[in-house]
Amino acid sequence: METRLTDPLKTVLFLIPLLCTVSGENDLYLKFCGTWRHGKNALNLNVNLLTGCGGISISANESSLSIKGKITAQCARSDVIPLNKFGLNSEVDSDFCLYWEPLLDQLKLKVGGKNLTLCWPASPKDSCCTDLSYGANAPEAKYGIINGAVKDDIITHKILTAYNFSGRSTSTNVLCKQANQTFFNNTGKTAMRPPCAQRFESGLKDAIGSNITSSATSSLFSEPAVAVLLPQVLNNLTKTSSKVVITFFKKNLLFQEGYNEVKLLNDVVDISVENEIITDLSEPIRIGFNHDAIPKKHSRKCVSWDTRKDPLLVNWLVDGCETLVRGAEHTECMCNHLTYFTVLVEMKPRPVRHLLELSVITSMGCAISFISCITLIVLLCKKRRRSNEQSIPIHLGLAVSLALLSLLFFFTGVLANVGGESVCTWVGAVLHYVLLSSFTWMGIEAFHTFWLVYMVFSPSPKSYVWNLVGFVLPIVPVVILTAVGDIYGVREVVPSDDISNPYRMCWMKGTSKALLAHYFTNMTVLTILVLSGIVMLFLVFREIRTRDEWKQNRVAFLSIWGLSCLFGTTWGLALINIEPLSDFIHFLFCILNSFQGFFLMLRFFMLDWMRKQASSSVLGSTSSGSTRQHMLQCQEKS
Ligand SMILES: *[C@@H]1O[C@H](CO)[C@@H](O)[C@H](O)[C@H]1NC(C)=O
Ligand SMILES: *[C@@H]1O[C@H](CO)[C@@H](O)[C@H](O)[C@H]1NC(C)=O
Repeated sequence: METRLTDPLKTVLFLIPLLCTVSGENDLYLKFCGTWRHGKNALNLNVNLLTGCGGISISANESSLSIKGKITAQCARSDVIPLNKFGLNSEVDSDFCLYWEPLLDQLKLKVGGKNLTLCWPASPKDSCCTDLSYGANAPEAKYGIINGAVKDDIITHKILTAYNFSGRSTSTNVLCKQANQTFFNNTGKTAMRPPCAQRFESGLKDAIGSNITSSATSSLFSEPAVAVLLPQVLNNLTKTSSKVVITFFKKNLLFQEGYNEVKLLNDVVDISVENEIITDLSEPIRIGFNHDAIPKKHSRKCVSWDTRKDPLLVNWLVDGCETLVRGAEHTECMCNHLTYFTVLVEMKPRPVRHLLELSVITSMGCAISFISCITLIVLLCKKRRRSNEQSIPIHLGLAVSLALLSLLFFFTGVLANVGGESVCTWVGAVLHYVLLSSFTWMGIEAFHTFWLVYMVFSPSPKSYVWNLVGFVLPIVPVVILTAVGDIYGVREVVPSDDISNPYRMCWMKGTSKALLAHYFTNMTVLTILVLSGIVMLFLVFREIRTRDEWKQNRVAFLSIWGLSCLFGTTWGLALINIEPLSDFIHFLFCILNSFQGFFLMLRFFMLDWMRKQASSSVLGSTSSGSTRQHMLQCQEKS
């Protein structure tokens, strides 16, 4: 025990002066950034990489950005990649950054806002190419690289055709010993060395059936962070001489692409059988992850990055893996293919299950609602010419705001995808205004009913008062929130079956500021609306319960009532979120609210039908006719 401890210690002590001279001022990894001045035609990326440690050259001309050289341990490739499909705009200069991480043999190019993985992470065997230093000057030209910078230090502002770096071969062992330690860099601050991957390599036959574990342990237990169990079935698929390589990565930020609402586990494992492509295994590979406790409200999913499907972009997919949650600190993945694996944890909103079905229902409901509302508006306008019923302007107001709501909601997804952030800021604000206006009109409907039943003898307020309240008042909070800024924009809803492909809509953003605004406006208004709606319905019911109309026409009243209840109270479903019922409630919420315009029209026709019934009975008994008419008006909105 004693000797085992002191030996590495001696080595490290011996190595410290050595390392200081080896690393010197140079950096282990390379980050080279610049702006590419190119022509306006199609743009390409030329990659030509050979293994070894010579150097790397980053060059650019009118049509191509080229990365050529010999710095990798295992990655060799020669490709021409069209860049325009990765969002590069030929019209303007393009910023790019090249990242080289020698300890992971990983080369990435960030261009057009996308990170392209040119060399997938792996573990170099014996040595790696580090300390890339800037070499010979290249000529200036019309097209090329402007403001070439190493680690954010600009080398020159001129337009150069190429930047050349030469590397130095360094023992991986030495670097990795150092990598796992915190060290003091020359500014006196502590910093972490880049992570080292741990490589396991053996004959397939020996590896099958035994637990292969990473030497790193989870922070809570002294259990290995990752354990891999290969299935027997692999034996039948591959040559007996095949070699299996399992690489354990730790805290690799280079895997973590621009996801906001999901987080990768610290551990990533890559499993491959040399010279074989293995998919659709009948018996799954089991990968156990021990990790820090994940709170219950966050869901987790085993994901894999299939480099054959997505050679350039890191795209974590749930395809081909099953997730078994085994307590807060343990997750087991059962996967049917070989590639990179980890667990994705949803940070903020729980991913919505059945998102596709829900969005189809919503789109359909919105379309039907919009048509219903327009029909209703036409009918109400016609009717207004004939009678001056007080409730018509109110129905009209609600129909107009619901029509706008349905229309905007129908297109919000499209607008988010086409218009992006700038358009979404405005669309989100307008959508918020229309929603608040619809809420207000629902409140007015409820209040007006109450007024008609209780204040039979005082005339209800003029219609312009309602219009002022219903259409102008909701502008106030929206204008305030727009002035505050950073509230409206693209909102991503993450479906549970494809985490990396969120549904985008224009609405309030997912930031805490926007969330606060959401609670202060929507949730508050909604709570008031639902509560007052329930109270008023109850009061109205108590009032009319004793009247004749109620006794004679109970079914019709109840159905109208039911439809009326749908307003406001349905939105109350948003307030309920009970875990086992959440799927059901999501569907109910979606159906009831997106079809609201349709229900509004249904109610209108029911009322009309009842009025006709009433007037035909007026012919029979004139004595009670006028009271009946009056009662129906009262009934208009109960
Ligand atoms: C730009 O460079 C690429 C690769 O180095 C080369 O194939 C191409 O011919 C060059 N184009 C021009 C216009 O010089
Ligand atoms: C690209 O990679 C860099 C470096 O790892 C990272 O800082 C950046 O957030 C990534 N960008 C995207 C869009 O994923």
